Amino acid sequence: MDRWILRLLADSYSNKDGVLFIEELSSIDIAERFGTPVYVTSESRLRENYRRLYKAFSRLSRFRLFYAVKANSNLAVLTVLRQEGAWADCSCPAEIYEARIAGFNGERLLYTGNYNSREELRFALDAGVTINFDDPSMLNKLPSNAKLNGICFRINPGIGKGGREGLVFAGPDAKFGSSEDHAMKGYKKAKEMGAKSFGIHMMTGSNVLDPRYFPAITEVLMDIAGRIAKETGIEFEFVNIGGGFGVPYTDNETPLPIDEVAKSVVDVFKSKLDEYRMGSPTLAAEPGRYLVADTTVLLARVCHVKKSEKTFVGIDAGMNTLLRPALYKAYHPMLTANRLNEEDVEQVNICGQICENTDIIARDRSMPRMQEGDLLAIFNAGAYGFSMSSQYNNRPRAAEVIVLKDSAELIRRRESIHDLLEGQQIPARLLQ
Ligand code: LLP
Repeated sequence: MDRWILRLLADSYSNKDGVLFIEELSSIDIAERFGTPVYVTSESRLRENYRRLYKAFSRLSRFRLFYAVKANSNLAVLTVLRQEGAWADCSCPAEIYEARIAGFNGERLLYTGNYNSREELRFALDAGVTINFDDPSMLNKLPSNAKLNGICFRINPGIGKGGREGLVFAGPDAKFGSSEDHAMKGYKKAKEMGAKSFGIHMMTGSNVLDPRYFPAITEVLMDIAGRIAKETGIEFEFVNIGGGFGVPYTDNETPLPIDEVAKSVVDVFKSKLDEYRMGSPTLAAEPGRYLVADTTVLLARVCHVKKSEKTFVGIDAGMNTLLRPALYKAYHPMLTANRLNEEDVEQVNICGQICENTDIIARDRSMPRMQEGDLLAIFNAGAYGFSMSSQYNNRPRAAEVIVLKDSAELIRRRESIHDLLEGQQIPARLLQ
C-alpha cells in the first residue's frame, strides 16, 4: 500500500485507528453521506498549494499566476482560487463562461485555445479576455472591426518535456504553438491591427519533476522574446512560462523544490530582460496540476472480488471516472481507506466496471485482503480526474465534495440516469 502518501500529505490526510481522515473527517462517513464514487477535495490543501507557488515567485518578481482551468473546472475550486488572487487560463468558451461565473472578470482571463473557430474567437473578444493565439494566421479570422486590446502568441520553442509519453507539448511534432519566425510576423501584424498590449507564452509539457528544466526552457523563451522585442519595438506586458510543474505520484519521486525552481527561473528572466533591454514585463505561469492534483482523493467502493489466476478487485470507479491509468498508464497512489493498519497480503488488479480491458486502475498492486464493501482511496485525483471523466457505458458521472476542517459540502451532485437521457429525442416518425 502507498502509505508514503500519508507522510507526504500529512497536513491534509491522516490515519485514525486504521481509517483515512481527510482534514478532520472520516472517509467512511463521507462515503456514507455522499455515496461513491466521490471526488473529495481538501480546501486547505488547495489554498496552501496556491500560496506556496505564488509566494515562491512573487517574492522575487512581479508575478501573475494563471490557473489552467482544464485541470479541474469545478466552480467551487475556481472560486477558492479566485479568492486567493489567481487569474485563469481557459482553453475554450465554456471555460471562459465558467470562470466568469466563479467571479473572474475578463481582464483576469487568458484564452489559450488551438485550432479555434471564428465563433470561438468572437466569443473571447466579446468577453474581453486576452487571446493567446496558437497560430498568427488566426489574426485573419478575427472580425474586421475587432478591437484588439491584449494579444499574445504561444511559442513552440522547439523542445519540450513531459512526465510521460503524451505529455510533451512542444518540439517539431507538436500540434501547438508557433516558431519564432511565424510569431515575429504575427506580432508585426497585430501591431498594425492596433493591438495595444502584448504577451508571449509557451506551454511545453506537463508533470515535469526536474527542477533544472524550468530555467532552461525559460532561457529559450526569453531569447525568442528578446529578439522579437528588438525587431518589432514591442514592449511585452507579460511573459508566460506555462504550467507543467509536476507532483509525485510514486514513492520514488520527490516534490519539486518550488523555491529553488522560482529562484532559478527568475534569475534567468531578469538577466535576459537586462540583456535585451526588454523593460519590465510581469512574469506569469499557468499551472493546473500543481495547484489541484494532490487536493483530491477519489473514494470508491469495492463491489466484487474475483479470485481466479489473478485477483481482480472491482470498484465502482473505472476509466469512466478516472481516465489517467487507462490513457497514460498513469500510477495513482491508493490506500484501503477502512483498513489502513492492515498488512499487504497479495498483489491485485484493481478495475472498474467498464466493458474494456483497459479499464484497470492499478495493476499488480500490493494490498491488504480486500472484500466487498471496502473503501478504496485513490490519491492525486484532483487534476485531470473529474475533468476527463465521461458517461461511457452509460455510467453517470461521480459527485464532488469539498472538505474544510470538519465540514463537507457537495459541490457537484452525482449524475442520475435522467442526466444520461438529457437532450436526446426520438423522432416522431420512429414512434409510429
Ligand atoms: N496551459 C496550457 C495551455 C495547457 O494546455 C495546460 C495543460 C496547462 C497550462 C496546465 O498544465 P499542468 O500545469 O497541469 O501540467 N491530461 C493530462 C495532462 C494534460 C495537460 C494538458 N494541458 C494528465 O492527466 O496528465
